[in-house]
Parts: sequence; structure tokens; C-alpha cells
Amino acid sequence: MAWVGRELRSTIDKNGTLVLSLDQVELTEPGDDEVVVCVEATPVNPSDIGLLLGPADLSHIEPPEGSQAPCLKLTVPPARLGAVAGRIGQSLPVGNEGAGTVVAAGRNAAALQGKRVGMYGGAMYADYRKINMREVIPLPDGASAADGASMFINPLTALGFVETARREGHKAIVHTPAASNLGQMLQRICLADGIPLVNIVRSEEQAALLRSIGATHVLNSKDEDFATRLTDAVAETGATIAFDAIGGGKLGSDILQAMERAAARTPGAYSRYGTTVFKQLYIYGSLDTAPTMLDRAALGYAWSVSAWLLFHYLPKAGPDVVQRLRQRVADELTTTFASHYTRTIGLAEVLQADVLRAFDRKATGEKFLIDPSLG
Ligand SMILES: NC(=O)c1ccc[n+]([C@@H]2O[C@H](COP(=O)([O-])OP(=O)(O)OC[C@H]3O[C@@H](n4cnc5c(N)ncnc54)[C@H](OP(=O)(O)O)[C@@H]3O)[C@@H](O)[C@H]2O)c1
Repeated sequence: MAWVGRELRSTIDKNGTLVLSLDQVELTEPGDDEVVVCVEATPVNPSDIGLLLGPADLSHIEPPEGSQAPCLKLTVPPARLGAVAGRIGQSLPVGNEGAGTVVAAGRNAAALQGKRVGMYGGAMYADYRKINMREVIPLPDGASAADGASMFINPLTALGFVETARREGHKAIVHTPAASNLGQMLQRICLADGIPLVNIVRSEEQAALLRSIGATHVLNSKDEDFATRLTDAVAETGATIAFDAIGGGKLGSDILQAMERAAARTPGAYSRYGTTVFKQLYIYGSLDTAPTMLDRAALGYAWSVSAWLLFHYLPKAGPDVVQRLRQRVADELTTTFASHYTRTIGLAEVLQADVLRAFDRKATGEKFLIDPSLG
């Protein structure tokens, strides 16, 4: 038997034309370790938007001339084309994670037949996905596809931050932008695990949202006394590690400086080379695509800035840790790791200009879910 369905693809050519298309694809019988899943829910996360739209200019979105199949055309400005040189000419399927029902299972995966599962591995913006049984987790009884759609990327990343902080000897964490879907999960984990968390947001609404789920340290980067309040919060909690998904600009640098200033409050800690307290900034996103600015002058010499990516972290963490984290996500799926969506759309609706522009805003609490059965 074969399963025929639609798959959303994004292609950029060498002239900077980006085409989004819904292609018909045919999946053959699953191999021994594989399952075919009918996709019922898949979220639109910032990393999906990065692959879907690349650095395209969203002011002109139109159907390509003479096209029969559903598709849209955008343009990547020449100055931004270099950033996507590695994908030129490739038709890339989109969607990191999702959930659905197993409609066919290979010999070793027979126990999954008919089960509703969460899964990750790309190409989820589709009617069907064939996938290795190790990349799926059966959902707990009563959990909907929407409950399981986001059970990998943000939950494992938030848990990975806490594991990383512990393994590297830090006792408290600074996080920005803290009111994101991921940030809310991180706050709930830190409350449960007794880890002090300093949240940085950029509006009072976001601060209120975090306080409503129990956050105690919430700072608005727009406040005039932000730098002082950040130093106080870092001194109070002892935070020496930060995770920053904004990336561009100088907020990461400001956080490291606050950590250095807090460390220097200990009598005798200061020397001409700064304090000996080690400070770690991990950049894990690029919500602001401007260059990262680092004002080294007030940092001393005990600091590091690195990138953090879930797909690099998981192999390093090892199978036992990964299994423990996955189990915790399954156990706390509708509590700690609950995701909320403002709108559920069909797969074909992704090819609407106003929907693409709404995706690109990546605003707090404005998350889309795709349910291919809606069209
Ligand atoms: N490295 C990894 O392995 C990994 C894994 C998972 C997620 N991520 C990253 O984690 C981030 C959060 O993901 P999510 O799904 O939780 O996001 P989300 O729920 O869609 O929320 C996005 C948040 O980012 C804020 N934001 C957007 N642009 C901003 C800017 N230029 N400056 C400051 N804040 C900005 C929004 O605030 P406003 O409402 O104020 O715009 C909103 O709070 C994304 O960047 C994603 O790529 C990385």
C-alpha cells in the first residue's frame, strides 16, 4: 500500500526567488523499524519559520506566473542571499515536530499500530510522515494531538538548559526572551526543581504573564533602571549562566556585565583583570538578526560566549539522560510542558500572505498550530 498526501516545501534559487509549494508525495510501506503517521497537529515555531521563509522580504508575496499547484513566490534580497548559500536549489520539507496517529507500522514497530504519537525529525508539514520508531513517543491516554504536537523541541530545550547549568556548576539562570513558549516551560521547571531563574522580557504584559505562573525575578529590558535591577537580581540569585534567543544587539553583553558587577560586590573579589567568577552566555536563537555586540571592557577575563542547539546537546547528553528527559516530558505533558495556540489552520492556509506575515511576527502568545485535516 502507498500513502499519498501533500508536503510543504521551501526552495530558494540562485536569483533569490523563494517558492513555497504544496507537493504531492507518495510514501511506500514502512521498513521494519518505521511507522507511517497521519499528521494531526504540528506547531509553527521560530526555527520552522527560519526554514520556511529564510531571509525573504515579506512585503511582496505572490503566486508564481502560470503555476497550477498551490504555491507562493517571495524574494530574498541579494544582500541576504549569502546567509542561505548552503540551501540554494534544494527543495526542503518544513516542520520540525508534530503528532498524529500511526496508520502503518513495520515488523519491529507493530506495538505502535493505531497509537497516537508525538514525533520529531523534520518534514512534519504534511498529511503523512514515515519515520523511525525511535523518533516517536506514544502519547499518554487522553492526550490530544495538539497536546503532543510540541513535546520535543521546546520541552527538551528547556530541560537541556537546566541540565547544562547543573553539569557546568551554575546554581541560577538568566533567560531571555522569557515569556516565550519555551520561557514559560523553563519557569515551571525551575520552580519545580528549586532553581532560581532571572527572566528578562520587553513589556509589562509579558512580565505579568510570567508572574502569573509563579516567577519572582522578572525584569523589563525597557525600564530605565534595568541594568541596576539586573545586577541586583543576579547578585541575589547567584546566576552565572544565561540563555539568550535574541542574539542580536547588546543584551547578552549587558547580562555578562551584570554578572561581573554582581561578582565584584564581594569584598576583595576585584582585580585589574576582573573577578575570577566564570560567566557563561549561551546564544540559542536569532530573533534579532543584527550582529551580536560584546562590550568586553567591563567583563574581566572569566567569561565565554557560545552557541547552544538542542540537536548538538542531545548526543552529548547521552541516551540515559535523553530517555530521562523524554520521560519527564511525557509525564508532565499537559502541565509543565503545555503549549497554547492562538489559531489552528489547515496546511493550505500556510500559503496565504497574511498568515505568513503573522508567523513572521513571532509574538508572545501568538502561536499557530497546523492541522492538515482542515484543508
Ligand atoms: N537552540 C535551540 O536548540 C532552540 C530550541 C528551541 C527553541 N529555540 C529558540 O527559542 C526561541 C523561542 O522559541 P518559542 O517557540 O518559545 O517562541 P515563541 O513562543 O514564538 O515566542 C517568541 C518570543 O520572542 C520574542 N521576540 C521576538 N522577536 C524578538 C526580538 N527581536 N527581541 C526580543 N524578543 C523578541 C517575542 O516577544 P514579543 O511578543 O515582544 O515580540 C516572544 O516572547 C526561538 O528563537 C527559537 O528559535 C532554540
